[in-house]
Amino acid sequence: MTNPFAGKNVLSTKDFSKHDVEYLMETASKMKDMKQDGSKVLSNKIMASMFLEPSTRTRLSFDAAMKRLGGQVVGFSDWEKSSFHKGETLSDTLRVVENYADVVVLRSKYEGAARYAASILEIPVINAGSGSQEHPTQAFLDLACIKEEKGYIDGLTIGLCGDLHYGRTVHSLVPLLARYDITLVLISPESLGLRDEDKASLKESGVTFKEVELLETVIGDLDCLYMTRIQRERFPSEEDYRKVRGFYVLNQDTLKGASDQLLLMHPLPRINEIDPGVDALPQAVYFKQPMHGLHVRMALLALIFDIL
Ligand code: CP
Repeated sequence: MTNPFAGKNVLSTKDFSKHDVEYLMETASKMKDMKQDGSKVLSNKIMASMFLEPSTRTRLSFDAAMKRLGGQVVGFSDWEKSSFHKGETLSDTLRVVENYADVVVLRSKYEGAARYAASILEIPVINAGSGSQEHPTQAFLDLACIKEEKGYIDGLTIGLCGDLHYGRTVHSLVPLLARYDITLVLISPESLGLRDEDKASLKESGVTFKEVELLETVIGDLDCLYMTRIQRERFPSEEDYRKVRGFYVLNQDTLKGASDQLLLMHPLPRINEIDPGVDALPQAVYFKQPMHGLHVRMALLALIFDIL
């Protein structure tokens, strides 16, 4: 089978077919063994890790993925200590970094930053989160987690809950889920509903979906519940954020009507939308998602360099 990721940029989940995503998930499941066997397949490769916005999981898992495969990492998580702080443009910075690395992993608060980087660089660019728009590698790992934990995707009823408007993980996950035969339940306050463009593409794909405000009214119907953080940093004003802060809190009470097979997910970080009392439930897999993130990012790097 041809590797659909060889030499490619990873900018948006919309750029990849169901076949591509299945290929990635199959490769990711092989990474569990490669992680342990000290494989050095990327020993002559360097990844530039450029995070212009805070990150724990994405940055560390990309670093770990590269190092697990024998590669090396340059870059910065503290943008203030780079020459960007002296006024150097993103464009000039990227052109310089291209001399030192074989792939760029970029996170930015600007919507089109990764696509812009890809337009000026010869080496592949991986979008590690761009504004409220895209977080494709998170969506890949979320899908891999559902498939691994449930064993299948077709036929599932999946609830997306919280900030469906500003959340970039949702915006990237919806097009992936739309490639499967699933039912979506969109749970949010009206002001944080899924964007019109996403709803239009769900309709075009023939996905059955409904929108509700109260989690309790639908929780019994769900096979998988994907909670999200209200994205405070994306709101036009603090006042707008305060109106919806704390709108959802998943706890033992909320879960009363739920199936005991209900898969509980969250891209993290969480603030207060999942009570820590839920963490010990076997179906709470949000601390396993970062492990899937490591496997998926190892797979992506190996496939981009086409070394498997
Ligand atoms: N899920 C996620 O993107 O986490 P970080 O912001 O910590 O990378």
